Formats: sequence, C-alpha cells, structure tokens
Amino acid sequence: MIAAQYLATEPDARFADAAVPMSLLRERAHNLRWATLPPDVIALTAADPDFAVAAPIREAITDYVRGGVFSYGPPAGLPEFRQACARVLQRRKGWWSCEPSQIVAVDSAAAGMLHVARFALAPGDEAIVFDPVDFIFTSAVEAAGGVVRRLPLDPQTGRFSTEALAGLVTARTRLLCVCNPHNPTGRVFSAEELRALGDLAVAHDLWILNDEIWSDIVFAPTHFVSLPTLGDAIADRTITVHGLSKTFGLAGLRVGFIAAPSAEVARELLAASLASSTMTGVSTLSQVAATAAYSHCWDWADGFVAHLHRQRDHAVARLARIPGIEVRVPEGTYVLFPKVTARDPRTGAAMGSEALAAHLLERGRVAVVPGASRWFGPGAEGHLRLVFSTSRAILDEGLDRIAHALAS
Ligand SMILES: Cc1ncc(COP(=O)(O)O)c(C=O)c1O
Repeated sequence: MIAAQYLATEPDARFADAAVPMSLLRERAHNLRWATLPPDVIALTAADPDFAVAAPIREAITDYVRGGVFSYGPPAGLPEFRQACARVLQRRKGWWSCEPSQIVAVDSAAAGMLHVARFALAPGDEAIVFDPVDFIFTSAVEAAGGVVRRLPLDPQTGRFSTEALAGLVTARTRLLCVCNPHNPTGRVFSAEELRALGDLAVAHDLWILNDEIWSDIVFAPTHFVSLPTLGDAIADRTITVHGLSKTFGLAGLRVGFIAAPSAEVARELLAASLASSTMTGVSTLSQVAATAAYSHCWDWADGFVAHLHRQRDHAVARLARIPGIEVRVPEGTYVLFPKVTARDPRTGAAMGSEALAAHLLERGRVAVVPGASRWFGPGAEGHLRLVFSTSRAILDEGLDRIAHALAS
C-alpha cells in the first residue's frame, strides 16, 4: 500500500510534458487522433497513449530487423510469445495454470474478438453485449452473423441488473460478451458481478468472450479479478482476449492474443481465425515487440499506471467543477465518460452527444468521442468519452478548452 501511494504521487520523467513526441504523433497517430485533426486541435479521442514505447521494445524490434530474415511464423504464434502470454496470465492475472498451447497469437484484440465470435456463433445465434460498450463487440458479433442483445449498464454507475441479464437469454443465445475493465465507463467489475455473469453462462451453456485488454490499467485500491479465476465451471467456457495497445502503446503493430480454456479449444479458435491458411495472422515483428513488452517492460507499465492514476484524479477533480458535467471516478482504463448537459445557445434545446462533441471541436478546438450509438451503443447518449493517457500539460489544455467551450 505504501508503494502504491508513493507511485501515485511521485512524478516520473518518462511521462513528463516533454516526453510527448508531438511531431511524430501528428504524423503517425490515426484513428481520430492527432494525425487526423487540424494542427490547432487537442486530441482526447481514441484510447491510445501519447508516449513513445518503452526502450526494450524498440531494442527488440531493432535487433530482429538487423537479422534481416522475415519468413512466415507459426500460425498460432511464436513459441516465445505464447510462453510470455501464458506467464503473464499466471503471474499477473491470478490464473493458477495456463499452457502456451492454450494461446493463439492474433493481430489485435479486435481480431481476437472476431475469431471468438466466429467460433461461438452460427448465423442467427444471439450474443449478449453490454450497452454502452466499445463498438468492436457489436461489430464482431454482427460480422459473424450473430444477433446482438443489449444488456443495459447504468452509464453513471456502470452496473447491470441480474434480472435484466437473465431476461435476455433465449433458445438462440450462445455467447456472453464481457468487457472488464469496461470501456467506456471505466468500471472494474467486482468478483460478485463477475460471478453472476459466469454463473449465467454455466447455467445456459454459453461461451464467454472475456475482453481483459484493460486489466493492467487498474488503480489502487481497486483489485482486478480475472473471470476464469472464479472456478473451473466458469473457466471452462471463458475465452479471454488481450492486446498490447493500451498498456504498451503497440496499437499500430496490431498484436494481441486469445487464451482458450484448453489446447483443443485453442485449435478450434485457430481454425476459425483462418491463420493456418495464412489469410490472417500476426506479423512476427509485432510478436517480437510484444514478447519484449511482456518480458522486460512491467516497470515501464507500472510507471505509466502511476502517471495515469495522477491524471485520473486531476481530471476528475477538474471536470467535477465544470457546470453541467457529472463524472464518475473510473477504477480502471484511461477513459472518462462524463454525462454532459448543455443547451444549444441559438435554440435553447438540449444538445445531444454528437452536437456537443461537434461544438467542442468547433468552438473549443478539442476533440472527444461523442457518446453516440455507433461508438458505444444507444445507452451512451448524453455522455462524452475523453482519454487522459497524455501529459499533464495536454490534459490541462484540453480541459481548459472544454470548460471554455461549454461556458460559451
Ligand atoms: C475493450 C476493448 N477491446 C479491444 C480494443 C481493441 O484493441 P486492439 O487495438 O488490440 O484491437 C479496445 C480499444 O479501444 C477496447 O477498448
């Protein structure tokens, strides 16, 4: 606990204002971010760090490139990467066992979600998906031919009702999608909530698509519980997806992994992914980078989380002082999801999320993601999502602009 308090208060030069490589971000950071926006706009949009990656990742990439051989890799992933993934699950996520044979390397968590959906769903089968939640869940289910059934989360508390959950199950339900920690509410689900989800899956013989990509970004004293650690019956039907975009800043390298409950399910997932026929697959260079991250960069990641902890507290305190904004303190992730109430200055009508985000961009020169259905589902309306995985100076500038634009 002393260490956590120390980490949460001590500044770290690796995440200082001067550490943000702004000219490179303006060239390379796409997906609604710096490279896609006019130069005078502050980007608090897609959830991607504004910092360069840790040195051991760059060194591993450079060494591999110097070797000059870029042959095909094994379809399920490089042995050293699968080994590193299994080690992370055991050492950092509380899994009591995990073999490399349970791991399938994938070219991003998003791709992993698609493979799980294609494995679990036949056309017309139903999948339960939180609302709100990152749009990738609905995209994956629909791309697999499945039908989305939305489980409402209270956007302010991030909680679901167990009655509503039970009421969604039909004869066609095959898949339950869990996002923990949750994007965009920042909720870290308790063991009790996870057990309710897991028990439902066991009772109705459902697969669980368990997205834990955010599970390294959890703020003390909140404790992260990994779903498969809740017992064999739940673990046997849980397929966990991880990626390295959020913790290690490797979004552009498109790398992640699926952890299956057994080697046999891993083989079926590999078949669903089409990687054996080389139509999909993750580049060996990306796996080399990811292996370096998992093997040598936890000190960097811990420093990053400590920086994010300070950023979260600062941003929440500032947002809470802006009239019209109600913000909940996220226990994990680096996104904030405030409810924003504002009126159109010309008509006096309440502004929806899209109009608000457009107003902030136009008047405030700050970009955020609107709580629009296309990003998070209908339950996100009235909210904005903003990220704080940047420097204090950029965060403050963004928050100043939001405050001024809302005041106008
Ligand atoms: C919950 C969740 N899952 C998956 C992803 C996608 O990660 P990747 O870059 O590995 O595809 C994101 C990115 O925002 C996310 O928030």
